[in-house]
Amino acid sequence: MSVDKEESEYATKTARSRALHEEALAVMPGGNSRTTTFFDPYPFYIQRGQGATIWDADGNARLDFNGNYTSLILGHAPEAVVTAAQDAVAKGLSFPGPTEYEIRLAEALTRRIPSLETLRFTNSGTEATMNAVRLARAFTGRPKIAKFEGAFHGTHDWVMVSVTPDPRAGGSARKPKPVAWSAGIPPAVLKHVVVLPWNDADACAAILDKEGATVAALLVDPLLGIGGIIPPAEGFLARLREITERLGILLIFDEVISFRVAPGGAQERFGIRPDLTTLGKIIGGGLAVGAFGGRRDIMDFYDPRRGKARISQGGTFNANPATMAAGLATLEALTPEAYARLDALGDRLRGSVSRFLEGTRRRGQVTGVGSLFCLHWTSSHIVDYRSSRPKDLEMPMRVFLGLLNEGILLTQRGLGAISLAMTEEDIDRFVNALARVLARG
Ligand SMILES: Cc1ncc(COP(=O)(O)O)c(C=O)c1O
Repeated sequence: MSVDKEESEYATKTARSRALHEEALAVMPGGNSRTTTFFDPYPFYIQRGQGATIWDADGNARLDFNGNYTSLILGHAPEAVVTAAQDAVAKGLSFPGPTEYEIRLAEALTRRIPSLETLRFTNSGTEATMNAVRLARAFTGRPKIAKFEGAFHGTHDWVMVSVTPDPRAGGSARKPKPVAWSAGIPPAVLKHVVVLPWNDADACAAILDKEGATVAALLVDPLLGIGGIIPPAEGFLARLREITERLGILLIFDEVISFRVAPGGAQERFGIRPDLTTLGKIIGGGLAVGAFGGRRDIMDFYDPRRGKARISQGGTFNANPATMAAGLATLEALTPEAYARLDALGDRLRGSVSRFLEGTRRRGQVTGVGSLFCLHWTSSHIVDYRSSRPKDLEMPMRVFLGLLNEGILLTQRGLGAISLAMTEEDIDRFVNALARVLARG
């Protein structure tokens, strides 16, 4: 079935959402406040979520493999988290000063992530990477940052570079050129961002050896999350650690997504100690959150005790009690057994999807780690952003809409996240639904 046919079937099931979208268009450009969540013909309006299921305004139930873009690791409205947030809210919504909740969540995170000696909270992953980049520049006195082609680190200017570049504009694969991801990114930003190819350690070494003296930080999502969950090749992250240490570049792990793959995140799973780490999503239990932290000597740039802090960090709602309480209750549920269960569900999904795709003539693959997975519509050996690009650019949207029509919610680019509310039957439902979508066209 073509995208158009999937779209018209979607439209027959979502009349109320269409009406709401039309109302929204009068007051918001495109009708909402998150570019990521918009899709043609219009997004469905969500009424509620419980466990692994999300319901829209027309009463359609869908099994949710999006999980608010990987944030809802326990599923929707887990009782312990809702109760913790409600208890906190009942004592006051937000305050002009710290609460004990903030200490307890900071303690829980520093216990889990040894490289996180101290940290500070923000309201989003974007603010976390923005602060980490500023901190790296302040600490090293160097102006540039390095990042990977295809990596997403939020929506502030310094990281809105080479996120989904057209390879024809992106220069050579081994020495990519910085490409603005959005209108409004000043040329000065592009002059200060060095772009690296994922999983090519020799190319990274060559670029950084040349640029190193001016580079403050290398920002790394250890799974290239939004870039398609493309795991690092054996030894790749260790080479990055060696290169950055040798050149005096701070290594920042952006674990906003990858923290969900182990109690101590991807850095535990791959055995690397970065200088700084950024966090978000699951650590707020479903509420707005971010955090950045790492080496105490670096983080001390935020210490205001001796006169003025060298870096100022504001945020009216930073570390608000509801978010801190929800985050803490979420981490408490994430026991070693919980990770083992998520890993097993992830292996089941990836194994079944791979076997199914191998048995068809489709050029499709599934990548992933732990509870994260991503569908790719290419037969190329996937190692980086360029090799993961679909040969048929319509295919991800066709699969996304097809799955919606089958009662399954994924992300538009094919990235999925398994929650603890799911069962083996839910995983099998996903695989069977995907098979039906692919059989349609
Ligand atoms: C790796 C990474 N960093 C940063 C962000 C930005 O986080 P937020 O959406 O909370 O601003 C994201 C969001 O998906 C992300 O995947």
